[in-house]
Amino acid sequence: MSSNNPSPWKIKAVEAIPNPSPEERRKALIDSGYNLFNVSSSLVTIDLLTDSGTGSMSHNQWAAILSGDESYAGSQSFYALKESVKDLFGYKVVIPTHQGRAAEDILFSAFGKEKKGVVSNHLFDTTTAHALESGMNIFSCLDEGNDVFGGNFDIGLLEDLLKNQDIDLIVATVTCNSAGGLPVSLNNLKKVKKVADSYNVKMWIDMARIAENSYFQYLHGEGKSPQDCALQTCALSDGAWMSSKKDGLVNIGGFIALKDKSDKEKYEKLVELEILKEGFITYGGLAGRDMNALSVGLREALEPRYLKHRINEIKFLYDLLTDIGVPCVNPGGHAVYVDAGKWLKHLKNDDFPAQSLSLALYLVAGIRTSEIGSLCAGRDNQGRQISCPGEYLRLAIPRRTYTSDHFVYIKQAFEIISENKDSLPVVKFKKEAKKLRHFQSLFEDFLWTPSKYLNL
Ligand code: F0G
Repeated sequence: MSSNNPSPWKIKAVEAIPNPSPEERRKALIDSGYNLFNVSSSLVTIDLLTDSGTGSMSHNQWAAILSGDESYAGSQSFYALKESVKDLFGYKVVIPTHQGRAAEDILFSAFGKEKKGVVSNHLFDTTTAHALESGMNIFSCLDEGNDVFGGNFDIGLLEDLLKNQDIDLIVATVTCNSAGGLPVSLNNLKKVKKVADSYNVKMWIDMARIAENSYFQYLHGEGKSPQDCALQTCALSDGAWMSSKKDGLVNIGGFIALKDKSDKEKYEKLVELEILKEGFITYGGLAGRDMNALSVGLREALEPRYLKHRINEIKFLYDLLTDIGVPCVNPGGHAVYVDAGKWLKHLKNDDFPAQSLSLALYLVAGIRTSEIGSLCAGRDNQGRQISCPGEYLRLAIPRRTYTSDHFVYIKQAFEIISENKDSLPVVKFKKEAKKLRHFQSLFEDFLWTPSKYLNL
């Protein structure tokens, strides 16, 4: 990526990038109800909406796809996946799901307890929605003061919550998507585990981005290799789930993982729901070929050379933006988070500054991003706004997909916006969706004209 860290892969297949005109972009915004989730990908030049399922697979993964075993029961692809998960993370039991939220659905349907609490560093929005759906209350205890391991738990706050609330479950989201994609240290997780044990509460891991998290731990001397850090992290947990669309380096997939089947009752409950909702236990919502690609992708994602480049490409874009005065959260694992609340001081939290910026970025350059702030956080079961770590605009970087030239294009778009950023307007709902509202809501007209437009 940056000149001293060329990518450790070369490009073998390419896909043309759409190049819609400014007029087409303006029309796309109107047609979408000013919600970028409603814009056709054929009208997006650089797609940074998410790093989920949008990465490029390696030729070894494509080769594995051809040898997928599509047997309904006892698929060899399932056993290959199980082997990878055991080798890399130490979990002996794997229950495949078609993606992360399906795993969350099964877990919270099985173990969610009405009026009990789940406490996390910060839950991702789909996890929040499933926890609330099961009647649970959610609590966050992010250590706001940690610049490097910004996903760490505030241990004092965690203990207070365990003392004063009826907490039934602790979840560590690694890395913490809602907090800049910043990692959680092993040292912090060990403390969380100690507190969890002293209150006899289970600790689970949302391991969507465990490889990136492990690389940060390794960089800071917490283990011999990223793989060693991943094993140590998972060993602290009672179980985990993964949206494999991130650090599984695949376009679809997920799973629930347990250390073993010693808690027979728990395992049987999960299997019952798995068969009901996802499919038989040896495929659970995935084709054999998908499980094969995942079993290879998980191993590739923990390779040090791949991870070094991955973390450096995020830092490279972060440097480009901060050098021109755009405030960003310290660089994490999968995205650059622009602090829109800080940059657009004239907009308050409920003016949704990051949503306003995302519309501007699309209009100026056809770049699609997502708001990770008050809009995404949504409302709790009482209809109150859920608080969030910041009003962030997330530039999520798909894995092994864009190159440094694209990042320079992104920087140029920000330079244009900065010329009249203080006139970026408030974003107002036209129709507020009840759940997961950033996906579904519609907004009032976005009345803003940039000083110029960019095209490829
Ligand atoms: N957990 C985390 C930390 C996530 O970031 C996501 C998804 C999920 C769970 C749900 O997984 O999408 O496979 O159902 N994050 C995506 C994103 C959507 O854009 O960050 P899923």
